[in-house]
Amino acid sequence: PRKVWLDCDPGHDDAIALLLALYLDQIQLVGISSVNGNAPLVYTHANAAQLLALYRAPKDLPLHRGLAKPLKKEYIHPPVSIHGHSGLDGVLHMPPLAHPSVRHWYDQFEPSTDSSDLDKNEPQTKEGDGTAVPALIAYLENSVPEGEKITVVITGPCTNIAAVRHLRPQLFDTKVDKVVIMGGAFDIPQWTPYAEFNIAVDPDALDELLKSRNVGVVLVPLNVTHKAIFDRKTHARLLDPSVTDLKEGDELPKPVSQLRESLSTMLTFFRDAYANQFGFTTGPPLHDALTIIHLTHPHLLKGRRGKLTVEISKTEKDGETSFSPSSEEKFSNLDLDSGEKAVESLVLEDLDVEAFFEVF
Ligand code: BDR
Ligand code: CA
Repeated sequence: PRKVWLDCDPGHDDAIALLLALYLDQIQLVGISSVNGNAPLVYTHANAAQLLALYRAPKDLPLHRGLAKPLKKEYIHPPVSIHGHSGLDGVLHMPPLAHPSVRHWYDQFEPSTDSSDLDKNEPQTKEGDGTAVPALIAYLENSVPEGEKITVVITGPCTNIAAVRHLRPQLFDTKVDKVVIMGGAFDIPQWTPYAEFNIAVDPDALDELLKSRNVGVVLVPLNVTHKAIFDRKTHARLLDPSVTDLKEGDELPKPVSQLRESLSTMLTFFRDAYANQFGFTTGPPLHDALTIIHLTHPHLLKGRRGKLTVEISKTEKDGETSFSPSSEEKFSNLDLDSGEKAVESLVLEDLDVEAFFEVF
């Protein structure tokens, strides 16, 4: 399996990306980091810890708290109507923060001294930055042998990973093969009049990643994620007791039926949010999940290669992504042979929707 570090801001669709990354055999998760985005960092970090417990992730998988602020801007808080106050509202059976299985991840590298906030199921306001940046640097340095590389997936603002590249460009460029980012949009309505949310929060971070001449960026923009609509038919299928690998007459194990309920309520919250906020009538787009599918089932997504840039002029256009394809040919993969020229980016555009939901 491909070794992957997942940087996320859960987030309902981040939660689906995490589930797929944990359970699809083509991926071996080597680390997870949280970043501010769908909610402030205290919440997205707590959500990641709760999800790892809910999903029964392997106990030795590390979760690191990331940077509390974008590289050069103030953090913009999205309206709570999209992901809720916590950034991941509405999930049935979510283990509470004070539960030992959650504390295992929540306090993994920065033990907290006061648990009273957790008993109220509200994360603590930790000041300052977490351990994600030094942890990824240490991982690349000590655990990725010379000549080998890992893949980095970002499903929130690019802040943590850009900080790693900024601090150790050579290490990053030799130990990371590509960065797969959910973000950006081209000629469709977006978060600001010019920019998609993840990129709008920290445009400078994407710009930093695009400076690399060795590490290619694969961008999964709204243009393709809006095709991954979790519609009513798929929702019914998620809850259909007959869709299992079990023999007839066998009962679905409780953790599995509970997980279905968790996912069902999670995606119902997200569906209502997308209907009310953006007028999506058929269901919510599972944006972030496609980053993982690109790695596990590359043939399901296709796009063009070319030069990707992002606006960082400190104007209203900040975060606007622009793309000049080098040809009209469509690819599922980014060729990593950079040779003499600057490496190209791959911007994904087409999705085999049915096959994606089959995998999901
Ligand atoms: C992106 O913003 C967040 O709301 C989602 O989690 C996704 O990463 C979509 O614009
Ligand atoms: Ca996200």
